Amino acid sequence: MEAPERDPGQGSQAVVPGHLDLDTPSVARMYDYYLGGKDNLPVDRECAEEVIRKTPHVRLMARSNRDFLGRAVRFLAGECGITQFLDIGTGLPTQGNVHQVAQQACPRARVVYVDNDPLVLAHARALLADNPNTHVMAGDLREPWHILGDPHVRGVLNFGEPVAVLLCAILHFIRDSEDPYAIVETFVRAMAPGSYLVISHAELHRDLKAATAAYDRASAPAVLRTLVEVAGFFDGLQLVQPGVVYVPLWRPDGPVFTDDLRVRILGGIGHKR
Ligand SMILES: C[S@@+](CC[C@H](N)C(=O)[O-])C[C@H]1O[C@@H](n2cnc3c(N)ncnc32)[C@H](O)[C@@H]1O
Repeated sequence: MEAPERDPGQGSQAVVPGHLDLDTPSVARMYDYYLGGKDNLPVDRECAEEVIRKTPHVRLMARSNRDFLGRAVRFLAGECGITQFLDIGTGLPTQGNVHQVAQQACPRARVVYVDNDPLVLAHARALLADNPNTHVMAGDLREPWHILGDPHVRGVLNFGEPVAVLLCAILHFIRDSEDPYAIVETFVRAMAPGSYLVISHAELHRDLKAATAAYDRASAPAVLRTLVEVAGFFDGLQLVQPGVVYVPLWRPDGPVFTDDLRVRILGGIGHKR
């Protein structure tokens, strides 16, 4: 199947064919399935069901991660005056997408979405076709210079001014051998003082270990990390209170229930002074 993909050298309506792999479970489409979305295929659902059998609360984890992302963006746009967002590992559109949350708090907020999944890119482009303050880029987190140097990204975001870089539920798809710390450091170095880094990441916890095997046949592996390892991504930054915590505990805007404490996703925001 072919998915439309924008030719990076052309205007916003230009499309070129991109390859949609129907045989490999996609981590983007599996996440969509956990969230109750419809943009997934039998191959994704079969793999996601295996994960759910091993970790029955994975749907709650996906929902909680999404809620954390929403609270983080609302906090940055509403309370910190951030008007520029670089969201890498966008995911399939769902409720409360980054530009919607950010532009609700600050109508002139600008958002660049980056993902390496053709279906995510096709949906994002369709959703954002008439939103002039957004841009969708086909890019890979493992090539930070490609993202940072992209002229369209530079056309929307001014890295001389504070920016928020969002790496939510993506770093756990990067192997240690791909040096995720160096990747994050590249973005932090490119950020102007006053910028923020948002991360959420699956924890290395016995509740999740059995489910990781299913991801070995997916589009990316699941690489769990400890609290100390996740906190290490924020080295050199000042952590916004309450620090790196399970995402339901990060500035909740309602009561936290016992079930929420089973969510083994860590999240936090770092501030570059
Ligand atoms: C679990 S979803 C998270 C979506 C969203 N950030 C959130 O937190 O709700 C992970 C997304 O990262 C994308 N992704 C995985 N590895 C990537 C990579 N190396 N470069 C760019 N995107 C990647 C997937 O295609 C998917 O859309």
